[in-house]
Amino acid sequence: MATVYAVGVGPGDPELLTRKAERILRQADVILAPVSNPHEASVALETVREFLDAGRQEIIIHQFPMTSDRSKLVPAWQEAAALIAGRVLAGRDVAFITIGDPLLYSTFIYLLRIFRESYPLIGIEIVPGISSINTSAAVAGVPLAEADERIAIIPATAGMERVIEALATYDTVVLLKIKPLFGEILEALRQMGRERSTLFVERVGSPRQKVITDFTEITLQTPDYLSLMIIRRPCLS
Ligand SMILES: C[S@@+](CC[C@H](N)C(=O)[O-])C[C@H]1O[C@@H](n2cnc3c(N)ncnc32)[C@H](O)[C@@H]1O
Repeated sequence: MATVYAVGVGPGDPELLTRKAERILRQADVILAPVSNPHEASVALETVREFLDAGRQEIIIHQFPMTSDRSKLVPAWQEAAALIAGRVLAGRDVAFITIGDPLLYSTFIYLLRIFRESYPLIGIEIVPGISSINTSAAVAGVPLAEADERIAIIPATAGMERVIEALATYDTVVLLKIKPLFGEILEALRQMGRERSTLFVERVGSPRQKVITDFTEITLQTPDYLSLMIIRRPCLS
């Protein structure tokens, strides 16, 4: 039987794809790329475009709404799972592509659950990808953790209380999805005296990449969805 592949394509730089990801993407019959806004390009798809053959492969762009409203999300997940399952049961390998790693805050996690429950006979292979976190640390030369340090990864959308608690507890805090709470995060960092240990990264691995450690400059940013912060204790250097 054909297989569903969840392929992590890294943060946006085609050179940061694994060789396995490239091989599977070249061989797959169908590529499914998620988008949250139908009017914007899929970052994952643009990252792998050079490895695809639009003449031979079916390329599907599927919209997953950017919302926490499960009444809108669940139908989008189920629709995507049915669309993939239909093709796999017809003997075609499907690659679901996702930025970074497929098991780190990716829509694929929800699809995986649906597949295990509703299509248990379909084989799934997960190809790990280089996450935006690893890439951001690498471009800035900032260690994520050493020796017995502890690290927390928090989507800022979990709320400021959890962000502040993590900042007070962990040696390194990685904040994802910072856009909606950017002002509050900056204020918390000021109040906790963490201005000099904050790294801001936007669109890492793309031509629009920004890497900023100067706090005043960070405060002047209007981050887009693909941005994160790494806060080290006690300071970056
Ligand atoms: C739904 S999570 C996906 C994480 C992804 N699976 C990974 O492994 O990196 C989306 C968040 O990851 C971060 N992110 C993803 N790609 C990024 C990039 N190229 N540059 C900076 N941050 C990025 C942002 O914080 C964004 O809000």
